[in-house]
Amino acid sequence: MPHLLPDPTDRLTFRRMGPDDLDEMAALMGSPEVMEFYPRTKTRDEASEWIAWNERGYAEDGFGLWILNDDSGRFVGECGLSWQWVDGVQHLEVGYHVLPRFQGLGLATEAARSCRDLARTQGMERLIAIIHRDNRASRRVAEKVGLVMEQETVSAFGQPTLIYATSL
Ligand SMILES: CC(C)(COP(=O)(O)OP(=O)(O)OC[C@H]1O[C@@H](n2cnc3c(N)ncnc32)[C@H](O)[C@@H]1OP(=O)(O)O)[C@@H](O)C(=O)NCCC(=O)NCCS
Repeated sequence: MPHLLPDPTDRLTFRRMGPDDLDEMAALMGSPEVMEFYPRTKTRDEASEWIAWNERGYAEDGFGLWILNDDSGRFVGECGLSWQWVDGVQHLEVGYHVLPRFQGLGLATEAARSCRDLARTQGMERLIAIIHRDNRASRRVAEKVGLVMEQETVSAFGQPTLIYATSL
């Protein structure tokens, strides 16, 4: 499997995550602000499983979610690509989570654009984002990356969910 990485942006670089990133990933996924539109925050063990799931993605697909660092090397969050099921069909999703202190600066948009471009150069035909209906910031990021609201559905957790999508 190729070692894919999205191109760096003006302010961010991407790298694969691993077990050494557990403290930062547990802080990200344990943050009530970051997890506002998920059923609950993730425990440290669940953050560890999340890292392992991304490592499987790197091995099996060549991609997953990657850690975002700013130009001072600080941990900003994560952004990347994964296969997700929606109503029985598998789709490529772009996902993003940014620490509260780095939100509102355009960083998720910058990162998601680079992931979209990687998906395109890899020959993917379609990209989606699965977003809680009330998650205005995430919906805005999807729009700025060129995705359009396509479908309303209900998530596995029973939450009202929108599918944003674009052809690549
Ligand atoms: C979604 C998230 C990644 C956005 O990160 P970010 O770096 O702040 O995003 P950006 O700065 O690139 O863009 C955010 C956009 O949303 C807008 N926005 C933010 N909060 C908003 C709100 N409550 N209502 C409407 N728009 C909002 C911003 O104004 C900006 O749009 P603009 O450029 O047109 O002004 C971040 O809020 C986050 O990590 N949220 C928690 C995790 C999450 O929900 N991830 C997505 C799962 S689908």
